[in-house]
Amino acid sequence: MNSDIQTVVVTGANRGIGLALIREYKKRGARVIGICRKPSAALEDSADSVITNIDVGTDDGVAKLAKALEGIPIDLLINNAGILSNEQLGDINYHSVIEQLNINALGPLRVTEALAAGLKPGAKVAMITSRMGSITDNGSGGYYGYRMSKAALNAAAMSLAKDLKTREIAVAILHPGFVQTEMVGGNGDISPDIAAERLAQRIDDTTLDNSGTFWHSNGEQLPW
Ligand SMILES: NC(=O)c1ccc[n+]([C@@H]2O[C@H](COP(=O)([O-])OP(=O)(O)OC[C@H]3O[C@@H](n4cnc5c(N)ncnc54)[C@H](OP(=O)(O)O)[C@@H]3O)[C@@H](O)[C@H]2O)c1
Repeated sequence: MNSDIQTVVVTGANRGIGLALIREYKKRGARVIGICRKPSAALEDSADSVITNIDVGTDDGVAKLAKALEGIPIDLLINNAGILSNEQLGDINYHSVIEQLNINALGPLRVTEALAAGLKPGAKVAMITSRMGSITDNGSGGYYGYRMSKAALNAAAMSLAKDLKTREIAVAILHPGFVQTEMVGGNGDISPDIAAERLAQRIDDTTLDNSGTFWHSNGEQLPW
């Protein structure tokens, strides 16, 4: 239990890893605020408060989020919302690539910038990225939009780590593992609950000294 973490904000909180993170931090005694487009009964049952109708892919949605959280000091912001498509060379759907760049890379940047004023000194920001954004680790190709969007998210997260350091805010760049959620058709080798528990451990381990480094939730450091 990291007792310094009092208020936690999670995007994409209605299902999957986001919902499991809400439950994990609730279990740890934090006040948890779930952000989503549409709420789920599970989120309503688990979170202390739920802010709905927030599309992280739009400036308006994120401005609405900032207004709803105005005056609430945040200890931990977890940018978890994301989408996945696959594109095959020869038939790339550029609309889908742009959508993934918008939601997976610009979404977390938009949200972090909009909520930055509410982050306490000593707060943390966690980016739920993917090892598929690692250029070194790309052994199989494809997934143009997803890989590009997560690599771009990692680049933004590194700049945030530098820019927020003066305010003593550390940034964690985290791959959750291959997790049994709708995103991967229920495949995966760990449950959302295990992923959330491991992600929370990595967030505990995040300091100003290792801010802006890229980790698998199992504790292995990942290459860019
Ligand atoms: N599952 C894995 O194996 C895996 C591996 C590596 C990384 N990740 C990353 O982990 C994160 C969570 O994924 P997951 O596996 O839990 O997937 P998921 O079950 O598909 O959940 C995705 C979440 O993101 C939300 N979302 C999507 N587009 C949004 C938007 N425009 N505005 C606001 N919310 C939006 C979804 O909300 P709606 O219900 O409204 O669509 C949902 O809550 C993602 O960033 C993903 O890239 C997952």
